[in-house]
Formats: sequence, C-alpha cells, structure tokens
Amino acid sequence: MVLSNVSRTYGDPANPVHALRDVSLDLRHREFTAIMGPSGSGKSTLMNVIAGLDTVSSGQVWLAGAPIATLSDTERTRLRRRHIGFIFQSFNLIPALTAAENIELPFVLAGIRPNAETRAWIDHLIGSLGLADRLAHRPAELSGGQQQRVAIARALAGRPTIIIADEPTGALDTRTGREVLTLLTTAAREFGQGIAMVTHDPVAASYADRVVLLADGRIVGDHRRLGVRQIAELLINLTEVPA
Ligand SMILES: Nc1ncnc2c1ncn2[C@@H]1O[C@H](COP(=O)(O)OP(=O)(O)OP(=O)(O)O)[C@@H](O)[C@H]1O
Ligand SMILES: [Mg+2]
Repeated sequence: MVLSNVSRTYGDPANPVHALRDVSLDLRHREFTAIMGPSGSGKSTLMNVIAGLDTVSSGQVWLAGAPIATLSDTERTRLRRRHIGFIFQSFNLIPALTAAENIELPFVLAGIRPNAETRAWIDHLIGSLGLADRLAHRPAELSGGQQQRVAIARALAGRPTIIIADEPTGALDTRTGREVLTLLTTAAREFGQGIAMVTHDPVAASYADRVVLLADGRIVGDHRRLGVRQIAELLINLTEVPA
C-alpha cells in the first residue's frame, strides 16, 4: 500500500479545509505503524483514504499494484474486500447477526470456507478477546467494548493484507486493550500483515514498529521503534504552541 502525494480538501473552494496535504507514505508487509497527531490533524481522513472509503483531491493510492483512486466503485470495493480489514470507532456490526456470524461475515461475503488453520486462528482470536461465551449474542446484547472486540476479531480473522484501525483500544479497559495490541503485533509478525493504527496513547503506539506523526494534514515525523517516553515527548513538542 503506497500513498503518493495525496491531498484531500473539504468544503467550498473559497474556504477550503486541507485535511491532508501532499502526504506520501508506504505501509509495508509485516510492519505495524502507529499514526499520531493532534485532533483535526487528518488521521481519520488518512485512514479513510487508505481504506478507499474516501476519495483523494490529488495524488494516488496504490493497493496490490492497482491505483485505487482511479478505479470504478465496483473494482475499488472488490479490492478493498480482498485486501483490507477495518477496525473503526463505529463498529459496523450487522445487528441481525450473532457475534460468531459477524466474525465470519468476510468469509461469507468472499464465498470462502475457512480452512483448519484459519479456523484455529479465529478460535485463538475469540479466546484472546474473551468472546467465547458471547458468540451466540447479537450486537444489541453486547456491551460497547464487547462489540468493539467482535469488530476486531472480524477484521483480523481473514488476515487481510492491510489492517486499518482508528483508535481500536479507545473504548477498551487496559487489559483488553493490551490484548488487542498484542494481537495486532502477532498479525504483523506471524502473518506478515501491514497495520496502520491511529492512537492518542503513547503506550499503545509503543507496540508499533513505526510512529508516523501528522500535524495540520502533513507528515511531520516518521520514527522507528520508540519507547513510551520518546513518543510522549514528540507529541508534547507537536502540540506546543510556538511563542
Ligand atoms: N467530511 C468532512 N467535511 C468537511 N471537513 C472535514 C470532513 N472530514 C474531516 N474534515 C476536516 O478535516 C480535518 C481533519 O479531520 P480528521 O477527522 O481527519 O482529524 P483527526 O486527526 O482524525 O482528528 P481526531 O483526533 O479528533 O479524530 C479537520 O479539520 C476536520 O474538521
Ligand atoms: Mg479521527
């Protein structure tokens, strides 16, 4: 997944909001990237553009060698289903389906029956996320955090090429949050998935291999293997108002 010189502008041309300005970024296989920056810096816009859920104003987005910004809606949707898993703040679970059915939905949509290895990974996800005794429940019968975990299991189940996560641990307690971060790390290490995770939390970001900083729609930092303290200092420097 490569973004080259991507800009995204909202609003009327006389008074534009520059959500992304000339952003170039590659998300590699096996790499877990945290995206950080102040509120309004363009993090969610970046996730939506990567996911093909939002269009770009200029520049190009490449997914599996295809230029998704210029594909038709149908082709873009097909590519997205095949290669991208989402963990968004709005969970997008299907109300009529049970937790188990929601988790298996990507396979049903793709017309694939999970093989034994995939089944074992799904069972591992369900166990790690503490969902084993909730599988027969519908979303309305689950807490917010449980719904979030079902959405996480669903995004990870099919081992998509890229996982896009917008504050996946925001609604979770500390222990479950850590479990999710460990699963994301495993997804990158063992299954070679590329992960982009938006977070405000330096502890969550410290699980990542790489920390990309956004400010005012631009990439202003790109670092590897940082500790919690270093990440916190970078964020403080970003949000400090110049005198
Ligand atoms: N659909 C839209 N229409 C108009 N402006 C938008 C739209 N989506 C985002 N913006 C603007 O683009 C800028 C970036 O928004 P974005 O949601 O990407 O920020 P963010 O970094 O995710 O912030 P937060 O940490 O608060 O979630 C903001 O100024 C926002 O108001
Ligand atoms: Mg956001």
